[in-house]
Amino acid sequence: MDIVDILTEHHRELRRLGQQAMADPSRFDVFLNHLVIHHTMEEKYFYDFLVLAKEGEHDALEAVNEHHILELILKDAEGFPKDHAHFPVKVEGLKEYLDHHLDEEEQEIFPLGRQLMDGADLERLGRLFQQAKEAYLSIDLPDPGTVRFNTDSTGGGATGAGLGIGSLK
Ligand SMILES: [Fe+2]
Ligand SMILES: [Fe+2]
Repeated sequence: MDIVDILTEHHRELRRLGQQAMADPSRFDVFLNHLVIHHTMEEKYFYDFLVLAKEGEHDALEAVNEHHILELILKDAEGFPKDHAHFPVKVEGLKEYLDHHLDEEEQEIFPLGRQLMDGADLERLGRLFQQAKEAYLSIDLPDPGTVRFNTDSTGGGATGAGLGIGSLK
């Protein structure tokens, strides 16, 4: 599968996860994780190349700008209490803007990318996106509540003892 197929497949997953997050706030973090990975990798393995083609530059910059707007909406929802009655409205607003963005990519930008970029390169970028996505999704970040900090005010920095990081030295 080339990068366009892979990105479109991930869009289907994002739409599904967004729907889940609206119905169940406990699914919001999974949705958020996929969305951040999608944007980061889509820029790295698609838009950073499309922007180099004269005919692709404007659309690539516009899409990346929409990623920035989505990040602002996302940060706002992330900072809102999940148990608040209005939280689903925050997720709905995020999902509406995201749907617009995904539709525009699928209907206009991805076909343009296919037209402008070499087929073998699109395949190679698809493989790299898939590898990067799987690697990032497999990272199991520790719960922030489990991280211990060095309270010694004379300095010396965090020991990382709570995570067993010290034993890696
Ligand atoms: Fe995007
Ligand atoms: Fe996308």
